[in-house]
Amino acid sequence: MASNPQELVPMGNESIDTIMSRRSVRKFTGEKVPEEDIKTILKAAMAAPSAVNVQPWSFIVVQDEELLGELANRLPHAKMLAGAGTGIIVLGHPEKDDTYAREYWVQDCSAASMNILLAAKALGYGTVWTGVYPDGSKVDTVREVLNIPDDIIPLNVIPIGFPAEEGRPRDKFNEGNISWDMY
Ligand SMILES: Cc1cc2nc3c(=O)[nH]c(=O)nc-3n(C[C@H](O)[C@H](O)[C@H](O)COP(=O)(O)O)c2cc1C
Repeated sequence: MASNPQELVPMGNESIDTIMSRRSVRKFTGEKVPEEDIKTILKAAMAAPSAVNVQPWSFIVVQDEELLGELANRLPHAKMLAGAGTGIIVLGHPEKDDTYAREYWVQDCSAASMNILLAAKALGYGTVWTGVYPDGSKVDTVREVLNIPDDIIPLNVIPIGFPAEEGRPRDKFNEGNISWDMY
């Protein structure tokens, strides 16, 4: 038994343990994630489910220190980008579809984002999802800094790198959040 009730006991399944032990990381060594691992992480992102399989996403990988610094300076809740070495921006493409499915771009891109966090964790990297959409001024900032066209929407910015802090796995399970059969 864990001595701290908030601490998790490994469940004996690698995938579940990755999910349960992921925590947001906001301090990094600054060393850049190698391209091969970025590709693996983005393959995981693009393996996500999406409504009608539209896959309304694309990704910008930023490793240029000046750009990371500018984003960090201008996005008040993403300061940690400056020391992360790498940032991944998940972009929504509602224009990729002209049916009802386009309305699902946030869910689709969120599923891809979650795969990024988990694949990175599985490879030993730290990440933190920093929100951009639906904050109009953050959307404008990211578009301006990275030259993103108006019909493409940055959902988030994900600093990713070698962790310089280890968040302790937390048990957030709450039986009260579950109903069976009826609400
Ligand atoms: C939509 C969304 C937006 C978030 N925005 C920020 C942010 O701007 N800056 C930040 O430091 N963390 C941000 N987070 C991370 C949350 O603060 C974090 O996931 C939460 O506190 C739970 O901690 P954990 O990820 O360690 O389990 C965001 C998370 C989500 C899902």
